[in-house]
Amino acid sequence: MSKVLVIVAHPGLAEFSKSQQVLKKFVDTYTTYHPTDEINTINLYDLDAPDIDSTVYAAFGKLMSGSDFSSLNDEEKIALGKRQAVIDQFIAHDKYVFAAPMWEFSFPAVLKKYLDIICAAKQTFSYGEAGIPEGLLKNRKAIFIQASGGVYDPEIRKEIRQQISNLNRSEVLYAYDTLGNFGEPIVKATLAIMGVIDYQHIFVGAQAKSNAAEVLAVKMHEAEMLAKSW
Ligand SMILES: Cc1cc2nc3c(=O)[nH]c(=O)nc-3n(C[C@H](O)[C@H](O)[C@H](O)COP(=O)(O)O)c2cc1C
Repeated sequence: MSKVLVIVAHPGLAEFSKSQQVLKKFVDTYTTYHPTDEINTINLYDLDAPDIDSTVYAAFGKLMSGSDFSSLNDEEKIALGKRQAVIDQFIAHDKYVFAAPMWEFSFPAVLKKYLDIICAAKQTFSYGEAGIPEGLLKNRKAIFIQASGGVYDPEIRKEIRQQISNLNRSEVLYAYDTLGNFGEPIVKATLAIMGVIDYQHIFVGAQAKSNAAEVLAVKMHEAEMLAKSW
């Protein structure tokens, strides 16, 4: 039996969210095909754990300079305790399904905060020989379902770039060339550093384009197929 953690980084209702619609298809199908697995869902907008704020940073500093946990003040202990609960929950699962919208070429800040918490030295990764990070999580799997308004497929982007070039608008071309999906490599790298290398990305792109419904249908199918055997 596997324990699946569904990690939603979205503040809105599934009715208006393509990433969550694809997530629902995935989870519904997965549940049907893996009836004995345990599935737990969290929404990162409800996460009760602090960011790396001044309290947490001070506590890190004390621990890294050799102080014991018991020497921390109450505020620091509570803050680290809440972060530890998040790490413990992550480690206690063996399959992870992330879902997030693309916001400003990345993902909502709550997901970055979550990654900052779970990527914890000596717990989910360690520094091995020559200081190279090694993952401590073994035999895990992850999927990242991400929806965007724009198109990030390299081949289609080449065509769009050519159309922009023909307009002779250098500033528009400059801006277009800076664009990319910078969030997905962060999710992938953070998981990889922790040892989660069985990773797949379901990218629901073009949701602000005229072919949005067509892309969504394809991605729903992709999620359904993957969920059956994942
Ligand atoms: C605050 C905000 C920022 C966005 N930034 C981008 C972006 O950088 N690139 C893009 O292609 N789409 C962007 N979009 C469009 C969303 O990615 C698109 O609506 C997508 O469907 C969001 O996922 P969802 O349907 O699950 O909410 C943005 C939307 C919002 C609300």
